[in-house]
Amino acid sequence: MTAPRTTADGVLADRYGRVARDLRVSLTDKCNLRCTYCMPAEGLPWLAGPQLLTDAEIVRLVGVAVRRLGVTEVRFTGGEPLIRPGLPGIVSAVAALSPRPRISLTTNGIGLARLAPALRAAGLDRVNVSLDTLDGARFAALTRRDRHADVLAGLAGAAAAGLTPVKINAVLMRGVNDDEAPELLRFALAHGYELRFIEQMPLDAQHGWDRAAMVTADEILAALRTAFDLRPDSAERGAAPAETWLVDGGPARVGVIASVTRPFCGDCDRTRLTADGQVRNCLFATEESDLRGALRAGADDEDLARRWQAAMWGKRAGHGIDDPSFLQPARSMSAIGG
Ligand SMILES: C[S@@+](CC[C@H](N)C(=O)[O-])C[C@H]1O[C@@H](n2cnc3c(N)ncnc32)[C@H](O)[C@@H]1O
Ligand code: SF4
Repeated sequence: MTAPRTTADGVLADRYGRVARDLRVSLTDKCNLRCTYCMPAEGLPWLAGPQLLTDAEIVRLVGVAVRRLGVTEVRFTGGEPLIRPGLPGIVSAVAALSPRPRISLTTNGIGLARLAPALRAAGLDRVNVSLDTLDGARFAALTRRDRHADVLAGLAGAAAAGLTPVKINAVLMRGVNDDEAPELLRFALAHGYELRFIEQMPLDAQHGWDRAAMVTADEILAALRTAFDLRPDSAERGAAPAETWLVDGGPARVGVIASVTRPFCGDCDRTRLTADGQVRNCLFATEESDLRGALRAGADDEDLARRWQAAMWGKRAGHGIDDPSFLQPARSMSAIGG
């Protein structure tokens, strides 16, 4: 396969035959929590204002991806995307694109109870809310902020506003919350939320990740099976990162995103745009392509699309976490956009 020369090719392909249709857009690197597996207590050196894409620049780049490059899913993330003041306006501008992409948001849920109706009205389709524990004191220790009640209210507000299916993302850590898998699932089932566990990845700013200490997908499933009957879900997985199981005969499901122990790089359909306008072809990429500079230098949409295609063409076959030569990317999860 040869690299695309023009955007007439119309897709974000790579040399391994994968095509990216799912765009993750980070709206800010800042956050109002300090999850221990993500960032240090003191926070990080945040991007300066002029480094951030403006709302109009974000909409322009998402438009290039949707109208010229075959992107059909747009997920806003961060940092914490709800702290970006222009979020409802960005969502409504993206919802007005043709063809209209599906639009979702990954959030820690703080402020969602208040914002959910406006986001729904703007065109947001769904949310993923991160919740790692049902215990308020544990939550405060894990996130270094006492905001558990806000997250629970955010989940309820999202469901009430119709941002469904509401999904919950949970990361388990050994000796911290790894005893909560069945309880988290019970909670999700009781409220009609879809729970997905994510294996902890080496993307923390403190470089404290330890393969040996990580709670694996197998351990999570074993813990769930002490309380539930899990059967493989026969629904087509496609490029979805979560492997799903039917709980107690279904229709409720639970998912596990085993990025480390069962990598799904061969089916990856992601492309990423950071809050400062860099394209990343993988969470674990060590190189980025600068669209902000090109855009501010006057590049037209055709030129931006070509640069985006070139960035994706160089995507590696896999993340290589298990290779001895693996290098953790310079940016951490919150700065990339998880
Ligand atoms: C980086 S956050 C950004 C959006 C929002 N602040 C949130 O927490 O949902 C996106 C997701 O990445 C997850 N995450 C952060 N650091 C991680 C790590 N080292 N390994 C696995 N997942 C991680 C979080 O739990 C969250 O579900
Ligand atoms: S995981 Fe999300 S909520 Fe937690 S510190 Fe990172 S960006 Fe913030």
